[in-house]
Amino acid sequence: MSQQTREQREQWGSRAGFLMAAIGSAIGLGNIWRFPAEAYKNGGGAFLLPYLVALLTAGLPLLILEYTVGRKYRKSPPAAFRQISRPAEAIGWWQVVICFVIASYYAVIVAWAVRYAGFSFGKDWGKDPEKFFMGDFLQAGSEPGLPSSLVGNVFWPLLAVWIIVLAILALGVRRGIERANKIFIPALVFFFLILVVRAVTLDGASKGLDALFSPDWSALTDGSVWVAAYGQIFFSLSIGFGIMVTYASYLGRRADLTGSALVAGFANSSFEILAGIGVFATLGFMAQANGAAVDDVVSEGVGLAFIAFPAVISQMPLGAAFGVIFFVSLAIAGLSSLVSIVQVVISAVQDRTGMRRVPAVWTVGGLVAVVSLVLFPTDAGLSLLDAADHFINQYGIALAALFFLVVMAWILRRLRPFQANADETSAVRLGVWWRVCLGVITPLVLGWMMVDSLRKEFD
Ligand code: PHE
Ligand code: NA
Repeated sequence: MSQQTREQREQWGSRAGFLMAAIGSAIGLGNIWRFPAEAYKNGGGAFLLPYLVALLTAGLPLLILEYTVGRKYRKSPPAAFRQISRPAEAIGWWQVVICFVIASYYAVIVAWAVRYAGFSFGKDWGKDPEKFFMGDFLQAGSEPGLPSSLVGNVFWPLLAVWIIVLAILALGVRRGIERANKIFIPALVFFFLILVVRAVTLDGASKGLDALFSPDWSALTDGSVWVAAYGQIFFSLSIGFGIMVTYASYLGRRADLTGSALVAGFANSSFEILAGIGVFATLGFMAQANGAAVDDVVSEGVGLAFIAFPAVISQMPLGAAFGVIFFVSLAIAGLSSLVSIVQVVISAVQDRTGMRRVPAVWTVGGLVAVVSLVLFPTDAGLSLLDAADHFINQYGIALAALFFLVVMAWILRRLRPFQANADETSAVRLGVWWRVCLGVITPLVLGWMMVDSLRKEFD
């Protein structure tokens, strides 16, 4: 018998602790830089309807299923799925690989945010934030001739990020992950409220909010809008990565799963909408200040955070403070997600080998860190990042979720017992709609999403 099985599995200290960690994983870059632009592009205010439908018919049901699998088997995805059916173990390892890859570049973005928090004080990006980011900043690692202060742009903050992440994980589920998230999440909400208040009181804010929320009802008849809504929900709730299975494996037998899923799901969505308000109020200000239309200044992802926002920060009253708070928030949001992703990899290896936590953190977690540190401060690393991100988001996660649901709902027909398992400890009963959502609606949507991305590939 291995060490791990003799050792008691760790447990969360409280339900609030589990929730904070689950919410910490969910709230991430997707809320801040993905949701606002997705909503804007896909019908504005009208997007909220498909978004809510996606949350209710796929997001929450899947979240509940992942929680139930984790709590029932008290194992990370590969070992848990193996107990459901031996070949299903492969789906779990596939998720572990995805988490490994994602972690190695998610950390890089956190490191950028840390560095940009520093740049904010003196608005070091100068007159042309785009040139600064694409040129000076990103090229710094790969061109040996550059001054060492620039080479350090990526490497040192990245090393610091990894040391923090591994230290949190080495402290364990309760003393590390839970405690860190109990600090991170309230701090994040506090900082974000400051940002949003500042943003909505800027000149032109209402212009941005109009652009975000004015509904285009015709979008509701557009299939791609629905695909976007489901895509946002899957990504935003960190579903299909095995993260929620892993976190739930540290729950006690009596934990309320359905209730927790509702809290986590609505907390994530509330934060997402709050971020939408903050981002578009800021973009409205930017448009007004430059005599442009909001449409011309909308961006998302890396471009929003590291090019558009620096430009706004330079123009805004009290911009330096705004910049520091914004980038620190981005770093915290990313860090709490990063912790959850790396934990999947570590806990899978622990369950497989019986390794104890601390050695597993420093070897397995250390390996992810080294890959990240060696690969991503280079040009090749950055194009690899793009390719990996695209593949994983368009196909990797959906494929894992689809396989898993088909196995559970149609091959083994196991949804009913899992429903009973969740219902045992919850005041909210799941009912037949839960099985319809998981057995029919979600698989169809996932299949449709993948066909849709494939089609776009060849357009
Ligand atoms: N859910 C996170 C977000 O919204 C993204 C994420 C994806 C986190 C995968 C962990 C793993 O930003
Ligand atoms: Na999210």
